[in-house]
Amino acid sequence: MINGVLPPESTGNLLRARFGEMFGTDMRIFRAPGRVNLIGEHTDYNDGFVMPAAIGFYTWIAAAKREDRILEAYSDHFEEKITFSLDALDGPPRKHWSDFIRGVAATFEGAGHKLAGANLVIHTEVPLGAGLSSSASLEVATALALTVPAGIAVPRLELAKLCQAAENQYVGARCGIMDQFIASFGVSGSALMLDCRSLEYQLIPVPRDLRLVVCNSMVRHEHASGEYNRRRADCEAGVKLLAQHLPGIRALRDVGIADLDKYKDALPETIYRRCRHVVSENQRVLDAAKALESGDPDGFGRLMYASHASLRDDYEVSCKELDLLVELASSSPGIYGARMTGGGFGGCTVNLVRAEHAAAFEAQMARTYQQATGIAPNIYVCEPAQGAEAWPAERSLRS
Ligand code: GLA
Repeated sequence: MINGVLPPESTGNLLRARFGEMFGTDMRIFRAPGRVNLIGEHTDYNDGFVMPAAIGFYTWIAAAKREDRILEAYSDHFEEKITFSLDALDGPPRKHWSDFIRGVAATFEGAGHKLAGANLVIHTEVPLGAGLSSSASLEVATALALTVPAGIAVPRLELAKLCQAAENQYVGARCGIMDQFIASFGVSGSALMLDCRSLEYQLIPVPRDLRLVVCNSMVRHEHASGEYNRRRADCEAGVKLLAQHLPGIRALRDVGIADLDKYKDALPETIYRRCRHVVSENQRVLDAAKALESGDPDGFGRLMYASHASLRDDYEVSCKELDLLVELASSSPGIYGARMTGGGFGGCTVNLVRAEHAAAFEAQMARTYQQATGIAPNIYVCEPAQGAEAWPAERSLRS
């Protein structure tokens, strides 16, 4: 087991056995990963830059097509089976895991992909509520499970966008495209720098002697979606005010730090700080890509610390446990840089650590965080993993 996750063969067997008990032996298996974002936080919905990597925690789904329009889905995490008709998908979010399944089915049908009924068995390895994108991994895995066995070909980019729409409309979070994109396009061994406006991306190999160590504060970010939507609204308000002086800007992506400072007085103080985070973070992603490509993990690490400070002070989406994890990391073995990752208000930090020190780093972080808070953190030592795929891998699935 790595990070408490079973080897893929065992998970495959487990799913086959469960599916066999419930629905029979004819099935295919799909999986989509969670992610960690190395840098570029709260920039995706500002048309900016992000740099996530997929991590080796997957949502797995065994699936078979049915001849009718009924979806039956069993979640082994919730030990619950839901049944609904593809002809009755509408309705507000129910705050239930089935919202994701219903939402994906509804958005794909709405986009003209006529689905068939299906039987699904879902198994998830992605920690829930930890900011590692369990939602997007469930959406993307569901999208494959509902389309591939039914013989419906959906290009990957469209698939990622429809999954984002499902989350926006059926779950209620106004998330950007980052999580669904990396779950769909991640490549093992690489981080992915994405331009969230053009949706062009570049894979940047992460050197083999580095690890992405994820430290879970164990503070759940459950109540974060109200704050998240408020931050989005702050950014939109900033763009509206700045556009009076900078005609033609469409998003904070179009604003440079010099322009922002020039029109500082046109913005309420809080809105100014929100904008300053986004504008400076976009630049940090571009700088971080250069640092990673040129073999400068120290430079990359400095940008991670700066990103964290900006998220803490200007964007105000950190919390004391995340700040503590970053501070403890800064004096732990093998560290280059640390920051909160994901939406914030709890969840995880990401740490860039020299591989040979990863075990010592993990041990020291576990000890010092528990001493300070009484909470035992979960710590995962990760390398960039592969995005969504049929399992075992089928070459033809990506388009
Ligand atoms: C969540 C959202 C993403 C992104 C991050 C913050 O993970 O789902 O779209 O906005 O927060 O960077």
